[in-house]
Amino acid sequence: MRRKMVAGNWKMHGSLQSNAVLLGGLHAAPATACDVVVCVPFPYLAQAQSCLAGTAIGLGAQDCSIHAEGAYTGEVSVSMLRDFGCSHVIVGHSERRAHHGEADLAVAAKARLALLAGMIPIICVGETLAQRESGATEAVIGMQLDAILHLLGDRLSELVVAYEPVWAIGTGRTASPQQAQDVHAFIRTRAARHHVDAQSMRVLYGGSVKPDNAGELFAQPDIDGGLIGGASLKAADFLAIVAAATADPGTI
Ligand code: PGA
Repeated sequence: MRRKMVAGNWKMHGSLQSNAVLLGGLHAAPATACDVVVCVPFPYLAQAQSCLAGTAIGLGAQDCSIHAEGAYTGEVSVSMLRDFGCSHVIVGHSERRAHHGEADLAVAAKARLALLAGMIPIICVGETLAQRESGATEAVIGMQLDAILHLLGDRLSELVVAYEPVWAIGTGRTASPQQAQDVHAFIRTRAARHHVDAQSMRVLYGGSVKPDNAGELFAQPDIDGGLIGGASLKAADFLAIVAAATADPGTI
């Protein structure tokens, strides 16, 4: 049985003051019912690590360097993330693919480094509106996935894939539960080509998940939880989404 996961992606939001309120509010999260993670901006890792100590909430970053160490000004390595207690790291978010030119191979290489460092990569895939409307959704996601599956096909039970349709991110326009389920099922089928373990791979949905639509999305058989942007910035909303994930009995 796959364990549900709800991960918050704060993106470039927060301040020492507002984070203290948000992190304090998360202490009410249930301890074991599903994996709960918050992915915070690099400068706030230490604050989040200390505020979340003693809770069951995992800490994550939103990116990592493709290099292990060296003369890469401005980059942050996986070992640095480990130093601050990160258990998770998002790689290949569509905002990084769009604004920082991250290609599929680089995303796969980052995910590999994260696994080698003992962290769980949350690997994002998703199509744009134009790609969906031209019927290219599966071709696009298939290509994004193949890079990962070639490199990490034997570690599917450890990594997490997040399906985030670009047209649904921050737009208030969510994929319908059926649209999301169809792509999640495709992702699992594609992964099964590479490894028998595809059933153990967790696939999260992300893109305008809110307390009022989370339950229906998480009830789909191939949706194992969510990657939450905007709604992770308010403790009450984030915890309501965690509650929706825990209400569902899970899959398989
Ligand atoms: P959103 O963002 O929930 O604000 O749509 C999701 C994400 O980009 O991870």
